[in-house]
Amino acid sequence: MASAKAPLVAVTGASGFVGSHIVNELLQRGYRVRAALRDPNNEEKVGHLKAMALAPTCRGSLELVSGDLLAPGSYDAAFAGADAVIHTAAVVEIMSVSDPQKEIVDPAVLGTQNVLNSIDKVGTVKTLVYTSTILAVQSFNQDEGHTFNEADWNDWSTIENGDPYGFAKTQAEKLLQSHAQGKPYSVRVINPGVILGPVFCKAHTKASTVLVRELLFRNPMANYLSSFVDVRDVAKAHVEALERPGAAGKRFLVVSDSPCMCTTDLGPIAEAGCPEYVTQATPKYSSFVFSCLGALSRLPLLGPLVMSEFQRRACQTQVNFSNSLAKEVLGLQFRPLEETVRDSARSMVEGGYVKAKLKQSAP
Ligand SMILES: NC(=O)c1ccc[n+]([C@@H]2O[C@H](COP(=O)([O-])OP(=O)(O)OC[C@H]3O[C@@H](n4cnc5c(N)ncnc54)[C@H](OP(=O)(O)O)[C@@H]3O)[C@@H](O)[C@H]2O)c1
Repeated sequence: MASAKAPLVAVTGASGFVGSHIVNELLQRGYRVRAALRDPNNEEKVGHLKAMALAPTCRGSLELVSGDLLAPGSYDAAFAGADAVIHTAAVVEIMSVSDPQKEIVDPAVLGTQNVLNSIDKVGTVKTLVYTSTILAVQSFNQDEGHTFNEADWNDWSTIENGDPYGFAKTQAEKLLQSHAQGKPYSVRVINPGVILGPVFCKAHTKASTVLVRELLFRNPMANYLSSFVDVRDVAKAHVEALERPGAAGKRFLVVSDSPCMCTTDLGPIAEAGCPEYVTQATPKYSSFVFSCLGALSRLPLLGPLVMSEFQRRACQTQVNFSNSLAKEVLGLQFRPLEETVRDSARSMVEGGYVKAKLKQSAP
């Protein structure tokens, strides 16, 4: 049980894959946690959070409250009296949606404005940690070979070129950085790569970990190049950023030490880490089909219907990031990707969320 004097931290998107790991990290460190989500009565979304609060390793306490990004004022109660806010809630979707402005950009930008307004209203918050992404940092208009760092901003993505998510997260982070100027709280921003690692519930297998699920199902997977990171390291990054005064005003690229790779390169990593399961990385497009689609996508009018410019570039561009600031200021050591993929797969199977095909054991 947390001491009554323990700092109170409100977490938005607390039921999500990242939010849940942040709640767990805070509870283990003895914080009073107010977990905000849209429906605190939905047992499928909160069962695992309640279990964390009952675990023997929990030194903190948990309160479940409601909050909706698109309802102005809806975080006022969640943030009342809070010492800190960790804002993770967003719609995470890099594939196409029917109305990107409404479905992706508005929850990120209007939602962040609503969160900031509630923080201003309650007046007790001293620290705000925001979950951004590497997609608010990387741009496809940089020279090849450029290593992105915290000084870079994504000024390439737009709704029209097919990256509403990168556009939305960049706009939301810029809004937050400028709104926070001169406020009585300090801001710290975490920019993670594609996040994998252990899941707490079935819904988490549909987050970015869907890549590992597809390996276990041996389904075709979206092929794109990216940098990956373990969700436990991402959660730790948020809480270290919250606790360390040296993190104030900074953004941190949080990616593992593994180089940028294609999603299908996760196949051999899963095979080595989980030799007991049959896994297979099947790209959604073979290289022949991909080059045909790439050529068609350059045609006027028809092109964007075949493949967006973002999709084409994301499959072809090697993008490198430096994680040295996160190591230096937040004291992070990143887990090897082999461990991340293995624990992701095992948590899905052992939790009963994915039925893996077991390899025949030798007679
Ligand atoms: N996963 C990645 O690879 C990755 C990489 C970099 C950055 N990020 C960032 O990490 C954060 C969390 O992502 P995640 O992977 O944990 O995704 P997730 O599992 O889909 O969680 C997203 C959370 O956002 C909440 N949310 C969505 N729409 C909302 C709304 N209108 N009002 C209130 N809450 C809403 C959902 O809450 P409900 O339970 O109420 O539906 C959900 O808990 C996001 O900010 C994302 O941009 C993720």
